[in-house]
Amino acid sequence: MGLCQARLPKTAKPLKPELQEKLKSPIIIFVIGGPGSGKGTQCERLAAKYKFQHLGIGNLLRAEAGQPTGQGRQIKDIMLKGALVPSGFVLDLLNDSLLKREEAKGFLIDGFPRELHQAKEFECVVGRPPTLVIVFDCSTETMIQRLLLRGQTGNRADDHEASIRQRLETHYSLCEPVLAYYQHQNLLRNILGEEPEDAIFTKCCSIIDGLL
Ligand code: AP5
Repeated sequence: MGLCQARLPKTAKPLKPELQEKLKSPIIIFVIGGPGSGKGTQCERLAAKYKFQHLGIGNLLRAEAGQPTGQGRQIKDIMLKGALVPSGFVLDLLNDSLLKREEAKGFLIDGFPRELHQAKEFECVVGRPPTLVIVFDCSTETMIQRLLLRGQTGNRADDHEASIRQRLETHYSLCEPVLAYYQHQNLLRNILGEEPEDAIFTKCCSIIDGLL
């Protein structure tokens, strides 16, 4: 485990100034919240409406986890345990995805940052903060119910009780400093994630409309 773990970088590669420059102008919205709070569902709809790029960190990592390599297996194991993939790897993946779509006018980055270190490292490596951070507030009961329900379709290997509990534990143990950090910068926008999808979508739209 020790040897394998060493292959996933803990620290992100720095971006050259000319690459940082390319990422200065787009709107970058981080969308965070607990597992099952609705991040992916809303980002998909918002990306379609605003022609923004939706970068779901979980989706990007699932693609990596599907590779038949030692690295792919390591990522898969970490995700099944509901733990966090090392930040350096996540940020490199995110930066590559941003730069591949540098012409986009906006990005919805779903599931990032999950810990304060990621928030600070993004700013350090990319050279700018996000434009805004949307957080979905949802009760533990609602999140568990939604994920167990989705688990019945079998689409997500981590939608079973043990993984769900661990994902929640990871979320609750790391989210507070992230929220405080963005609250302090007045970048945080809270949305009640308990409501029906359409009501949440309308609220997200009014936040984004305010940026355009
Ligand atoms: P990720 O794929 O992001 O999973 P998650 O955070 O556990 O969140 P989910 O995708 O399960 O839920 P969601 O909030 O997107 O809700 P959704 O819209 O899907 O990450 C997976 C793993 O990757 C992590 O555990 C970690 O290992 C790793 N990882 C990810 N990011 C990382 C990072 N930054 N650093 C390190 N590691 C990272 O909805 C869920 C269900 O609810 C759906 O069935 C949906 O139809 C339903 N639903 C949605 N909204 C509503 C609503 N309003 N009413 C009723 N049902 C609803």
